[in-house]
Amino acid sequence: MNTDSLFRPFSLKSLNIKNRIVMAPMTRSFSPNGIPTADVASYYRKRAEGEAGLILSEGTVINRVSSSNDANIPHFYGAEALAGWKNVIDGVHAEGGAMGPQIWHMGIMDNHASGWVPSQPFEGPSGLNRPGFNNGNTMTESDIADTIKAYGQAAADAKELGFDCVEIHGAHGYLIDQFFWEGTNERTDIYGGKTLPERSRFAIEVIKEVRKRVGEDFAVIIRLSQFKPAAYTNQLAKSPQELEAWINPLADAGVDIFHCSQRRFWEPEFEGADLNFAGWVKKVSGKATITVGSVGLSGDFFGSFAGESSQASSLDELLKRFDRGDFDLVGVGRPILADPFWPKKIHEGRTDELKGFSPAALGELVMS
Ligand SMILES: Cc1cc2nc3c(=O)[nH]c(=O)nc-3n(C[C@H](O)[C@H](O)[C@H](O)COP(=O)(O)O)c2cc1C
Repeated sequence: MNTDSLFRPFSLKSLNIKNRIVMAPMTRSFSPNGIPTADVASYYRKRAEGEAGLILSEGTVINRVSSSNDANIPHFYGAEALAGWKNVIDGVHAEGGAMGPQIWHMGIMDNHASGWVPSQPFEGPSGLNRPGFNNGNTMTESDIADTIKAYGQAAADAKELGFDCVEIHGAHGYLIDQFFWEGTNERTDIYGGKTLPERSRFAIEVIKEVRKRVGEDFAVIIRLSQFKPAAYTNQLAKSPQELEAWINPLADAGVDIFHCSQRRFWEPEFEGADLNFAGWVKKVSGKATITVGSVGLSGDFFGSFAGESSQASSLDELLKRFDRGDFDLVGVGRPILADPFWPKKIHEGRTDELKGFSPAALGELVMS
């Protein structure tokens, strides 16, 4: 297995990375009261030492009272949390890594198992987390305007702290995705509509605000998924034509890189071609894309949440797609969560040292 192509550098605007491996954003809930601790900084620093080219932080929430359902998820606002993030990025840079925060608003959520709830009800396009499940408020136009500003502020703070890029979390059934999906967006104003391009207005305004706040030269990534945890087989865009009508306005609004979340990267997005989600998005937009989903593992991440173990698997199929130019970067989640040195081991051909993924790793900040 020749992995040399994965270890070529990549540059786009503010982002200069030494290889094509991206640590995928993974919520860890190790930041009490929203403040990233010294352990969190060490955890990310280790991943830079282990040669992840770009690290995307766990989702970190923007400055809205009900943007989170968990007191231990990091904030990306407030002096103390931002000082914690400054430690994180300084540590990553000290190891020659690069990093962007994944800025997040969860929208309407299930209440967390801990019993903690924000001091105001959850908020979303129509109060829905999934069809038939209402657990919060429908956002007013002024809520929407303030939320868009909060995304912009988080992005500006990311740049100010010295991060290399920012990722907007637009995937997996959270706030932005709740606007995209007809199952959770029943609005009849300008933020709703029968078509996906109409329901993309909120995302477009968020991207434009982020772009305005960070300037032209700072790399902006958006993470998208067709699936939602409440609807695994959902497709927001059901054809390449619908995909183009969704993606290109987002690109025009200011996205540099699309992070195309799938559970299994090898699955074709549409019938008639073997291109995956990242492959299609690159084809219709001409923009750089990140693929992700069970790279180097036999089972997907929802299986891990359900307690299943995964075995290490070959990178041949990934390399075939990468080498023919389907996507530019490769997101790797659980393998790097469980082993900070996963990229380095791939680089050095130490494949016999690769472990599979045991769900036990979810409960700790693995440091070696
Ligand atoms: C523990 C855990 C936490 C996650 N948290 C996030 C998150 O905060 N934001 C996000 O966009 N995806 C999140 N994901 C999804 C991952 O970024 C990634 O897309 C998924 O794990 C598939 O990649 P993998 O098969 O390499 O693990 C999480 C996944 C795991 C396992």
